[in-house]
Amino acid sequence: MERGLWLLLLLSISIEAMPPTHHLNQSCPYQNQCNPAINWQHIRRLESYVRRDVDPCVDFYAYACGNWRRIHGEGGTATTISEAQINQRFEDLFLRLLQDPRAPEHGYPMQQKLLSHYQSCTALTSPNLRQYLQHLPPLPSLDTSHWMQLVSILGRYGYHDHYVQIEVRHHNISQHMIFIQPHNHILSLNLTREIYEALPQRHLCFHQLKDMFNRLEVHLNRLAKPNIADDSFHNLTLEEIRRRVPELDWLGALKRQLNRSSVNADHSFQVDELSAIRQLILYLNRQDRLLLNLYSLARFLSHLLKLPHNPLGRQSSSPLESSKSLSIACIRHMRRTLYLPMIYAYERVYYAQQRPSDERVIHSVFTELKDQLVQTLDQNNFNLNRGLVEALQTKVLGMRLNVGNVPRNVTEDFFWAADRNWNVGHDFHENHLNSLLYYYSLTAELEDNPDATEKALWYSFNNHSPDLTDNIDATPYFYCLGNIIIIPYSYAQLPFYHSEFWPAMLYGDLANTLGHEMMHAFDTDLVDYDVQGNMRDYSEQLQQQPLYVEAVKCLNDSSVVLNERTSDVSGSRLAFRTYMKDSQSRQSNGRYYFLQFSHFFCGDEGDRYHDMGSTRLNYALSQMPQFAEYFQCARGTPMNSATQCQFW
Ligand SMILES: *[C@@H]1O[C@H](CO)[C@@H](O)[C@H](O)[C@H]1NC(C)=O
Ligand SMILES: *[C@@H]1O[C@H](CO)[C@@H](O)[C@H](O)[C@H]1NC(C)=O
Ligand SMILES: *[C@@H]1O[C@H](CO)[C@@H](O)[C@H](O)[C@H]1NC(C)=O
Ligand SMILES: *[C@@H]1O[C@H](CO)[C@@H](O)[C@H](O)[C@H]1NC(C)=O
Ligand SMILES: *[C@@H]1O[C@H](CO)[C@@H](O)[C@H](O)[C@H]1NC(C)=O
Ligand SMILES: *[C@@H]1O[C@H](CO)[C@@H](O)[C@H](O)[C@H]1NC(C)=O
Ligand SMILES: *[C@@H]1O[C@H](CO)[C@@H](O)[C@H](O)[C@H]1NC(C)=O
Ligand SMILES: [Zn+2]
Repeated sequence: MERGLWLLLLLSISIEAMPPTHHLNQSCPYQNQCNPAINWQHIRRLESYVRRDVDPCVDFYAYACGNWRRIHGEGGTATTISEAQINQRFEDLFLRLLQDPRAPEHGYPMQQKLLSHYQSCTALTSPNLRQYLQHLPPLPSLDTSHWMQLVSILGRYGYHDHYVQIEVRHHNISQHMIFIQPHNHILSLNLTREIYEALPQRHLCFHQLKDMFNRLEVHLNRLAKPNIADDSFHNLTLEEIRRRVPELDWLGALKRQLNRSSVNADHSFQVDELSAIRQLILYLNRQDRLLLNLYSLARFLSHLLKLPHNPLGRQSSSPLESSKSLSIACIRHMRRTLYLPMIYAYERVYYAQQRPSDERVIHSVFTELKDQLVQTLDQNNFNLNRGLVEALQTKVLGMRLNVGNVPRNVTEDFFWAADRNWNVGHDFHENHLNSLLYYYSLTAELEDNPDATEKALWYSFNNHSPDLTDNIDATPYFYCLGNIIIIPYSYAQLPFYHSEFWPAMLYGDLANTLGHEMMHAFDTDLVDYDVQGNMRDYSEQLQQQPLYVEAVKCLNDSSVVLNERTSDVSGSRLAFRTYMKDSQSRQSNGRYYFLQFSHFFCGDEGDRYHDMGSTRLNYALSQMPQFAEYFQCARGTPMNSATQCQFW
């Protein structure tokens, strides 16, 4: 938006439309002082989105976000704008360092390697997939080597989708485990010309090879389909696996993929469908080795191209985009594939000076919310047995928070050690492979690390994997396996939050967002995880309580995403209870509390996991009698007519 329009809006608001604010609580909850200018400016911003010709009791979203599109255009939300700012700061940093070889940041751990990776990425001109294969370690002969040899080499790069899947995964708050599963029958290979041309030994023409791959897949899919639809894994030792499926060199495969010199016979694994795995192995052992190995390479290339934000994966064989958008594409790619180095750079260069005040404020609000939730659980509205109530309270008390998602309590040495484990060369393909090798070797080591102190550092944050889908690190989220809430950098800034916000604006988003994420720990999917991230049978116990079943039924409307709705409703109630205890403060602070809450949803079209912002906001507020009270919404108006559903 143009600057002139802003000014016009601000002026017209300040002259005629600003509601009375003389009772606005201007205290500064957890800081010595809160700069009034920051707050007034933010209030003017919130007011600029308000459409006064809309009745807030009819459609609060249309009221609070009515001017959003006019100001920000199509397609964006505060979250996407914030995300773009973070990317821009990375670009600013890299360009500055490239121009100034004497900048002190060059001496930070991992910084040189980040710059080299960035340069190799922005230097890309046209994709050349064969480069990926040329930068793999020397491969065994494709004609004669057993299929598992190649699969376990590709597994080092985190690739594990076909034939037999061996993958190291997060298991609970302090442990990774090795998961073994049959061929992924949901994902099939789309052999493109581009991939075909990158393959070695092409004595078959494109269509012949495509047909042969298709036939192979039909057999694999048939063998891999589970007989019973359950997603439970069995805990087996290596010895048991070897005894039940002697037709594969398990030890060799594990040693190669995990870069270990030995694996104990009593090492335990999480295994799914071992009998299907055996059938697959028996079948594969009879097939043509060259075909199987070519299929592996093709799947691997296809996987690399599909990794989120791989700049090569966007449009095959057409020229890469303009240099500005390639630069941002490279940054997004690096934020995925080099998570730890990138987060460290951002912390050190941009966030460190803001951290102490943010930590104080955000953790204080978090603690208040926890206390409130523990009290609410104590009232035991669902009439649960005492043991379950206590387990759920323990889960709340043990819940952690990580602002910025950085490793906690580490020194610079931790990052120098990480630097040493990561190689960077000159070619993008090589560097991309190196970044994957770096991440997945760390993960493999973690699975076998006996040092509890060192492990605690790795489990104090969520070391995002290169294949993480989008958006998860753009807004705060609850991570069930670690019982931890992650607050990404893109949230720890305006317009969502500022450590110097006055209470209405501080709680309006922060308490609601934290409340929402905390209540994910109690949604219908994630309630089963305990304080340490282990699966329990809490749902089963809850299903036996008619009051609970009734509450879920009340919220479960087939047109919405249930576990978001439950978090919206109970999270916003929790935030409200925590913040506005007395009705006096409600009267004078309600407006900015609710406008700040709404701001997060403005422009949000929803996605696979979330309903539209308007639906979410209006429903959550219609479930909050204090909202109707504050805006004096008469009974029967849309914002004050919903059946009130009880939940946590
Ligand atoms: C202003 O808010 C603070 C923090 O929430 C609270 O402690 C204080 O009592 C409030 N002051 C008034 C006058 O309501
Ligand atoms: C396979 O890839 C080609 C080229 O990228 C694309 O046009 C086609 O739609 C894809 N087919 C499937 C089934 O995904
Ligand atoms: C798996 O079983 C072994 C003993 O057979 C036991 O020590 C280990 O804790 C179990 N692991 C899991 C994940 O249940
Ligand atoms: C594999 O292990 C060896 C010896 O422990 C180590 O020197 C090497 O760096 C490891 N390779 C990777 C890719 O981690
Ligand atoms: C960091 O260390 C301090 C002091 O040793 C400890 O009190 C604190 O709990 C640690 N924080 C985390 C997140 O591990
Ligand atoms: C993590 O899971 C393993 C295997 O199930 C279990 O032995 C261990 O006790 C769990 N850790 C915690 C802290 O609960
Ligand atoms: C919610 O309702 C849908 C049908 O509308 C049902 O399939 C689902 O099991 C319900 N979820 C819960 C947790 O009750
Ligand atoms: Zn959510």
